[in-house]
Amino acid sequence: MPDSAPYTLLIQHAAQVLTLAGGPATRPLAGPDLGGWCIIDNGFVACTGDKIAAVGPMSELDQTRITPATQRIDATGRVLMPGLVECHTHLIFGGNRAHEFERKLRGESYLDILASGGGILSTVRATRAASEEELLANALHHLAGFRRYGITTVEAKSGYGLDRDTELRLVRVARQAGRQQAVRVVPTFLGAHVVPPEFKDAGPRAYVDFLLREVLPELRGEAGFVDVFCEQGAFPLDVARYYLEQAHHMGFGLKIHAEQLHDLGGCEMAAGLGAVSVDHCDYLTPAAAARIAQHTQGRTVAVLLPLVPLFLRQEQYAPGRAFIDSGLPVALSTDFNPGSCPSKNLWLAQSVACLKMGLTPKEALAAATLNAAWAIDLAADCGSLEPGKRADLLVLNVPSVAEIPYWLGENPVHEVFIGGVMQ
Ligand code: NIG
Ligand code: FE
Repeated sequence: MPDSAPYTLLIQHAAQVLTLAGGPATRPLAGPDLGGWCIIDNGFVACTGDKIAAVGPMSELDQTRITPATQRIDATGRVLMPGLVECHTHLIFGGNRAHEFERKLRGESYLDILASGGGILSTVRATRAASEEELLANALHHLAGFRRYGITTVEAKSGYGLDRDTELRLVRVARQAGRQQAVRVVPTFLGAHVVPPEFKDAGPRAYVDFLLREVLPELRGEAGFVDVFCEQGAFPLDVARYYLEQAHHMGFGLKIHAEQLHDLGGCEMAAGLGAVSVDHCDYLTPAAAARIAQHTQGRTVAVLLPLVPLFLRQEQYAPGRAFIDSGLPVALSTDFNPGSCPSKNLWLAQSVACLKMGLTPKEALAAATLNAAWAIDLAADCGSLEPGKRADLLVLNVPSVAEIPYWLGENPVHEVFIGGVMQ
């Protein structure tokens, strides 16, 4: 698009434009950069087609590019910011686990419920029993919910099939759901979520060998990332390492669920293999975080999921403040799923990250936008307000970034634009 092309969309007079710009271009925001990005008072964002064309203070608006066809939005008294990026969800599943909520309240732990055949395995049964149409309808319902919260990109994991056909179906449904509405969907393969009943005797190594042989070859070009749950009752460290090494050789990007309930060393192992993100990290020590930051030169993102310990009644939250101070880039996500976080409220996740992990409001916002985009390798295209990026924009009901995590549990979204189109 030439620099003189007329603006098709202009959002102007915003009290604060949260650009998320100003940090390094080649890696996620870390250390002081996480909260050091630029806010423009009384500013605008102008777009041509589906891309951002210009961002600045009102005094720098190029009036010659405004035409009668330009859609003009007044954001007086409001925040203008990039769409939220949700970099870790288990979007596609059948049924729900409301029946386990009371067991949890009576004191049963997440791993006790899983060991008794419930938990993830109960959702596997419901997901295997659901038709492709039902799974797609559920996914579209949840994506509409995410969109109302201002989430414009959603990573979506498989992992409730645990057999070849169902796992491939879940990835297919994620892709189909992405085509049928505006929120961008990024599929991840989490076939190694837990060991399915069919492999109970053969064990985790035999199961991942099956995935590597029968399923991953079908997913080239369909899912960019391979993920594994490294935990007691799921996959031990050595099997997780072997599986991720093989997946890496097959060309997949790597992610891991690790240090959620115990410190098994999964984050450091996966970061050593070049994982784009290490997720949960509640039991990751600050010393290990500092080693990861150093060895990866700040390229692996720790995805923190503060609504999960909240929902699992766990005291231990990831020491986010210490991670940031040691130079490890952090992102925030809900982990939306039927077991450990049935919430899509990434605003609430920011509030809890401030309250329980020690992030500032600016750090939390960067973690749920630009660093979340890095965690799914999409930072060139979304997560900040910079010319050339996709025009995914939010106008909020609040005048300043400080008020975003303050209004606990509220949805501050006033208007959502995806690819320059009002939703
Ligand atoms: O990220 N921890 C493992 N997997 C999911 C929860 C899945 C479930 O309980 O259904 C998580 O928390
Ligand atoms: Fe998860």
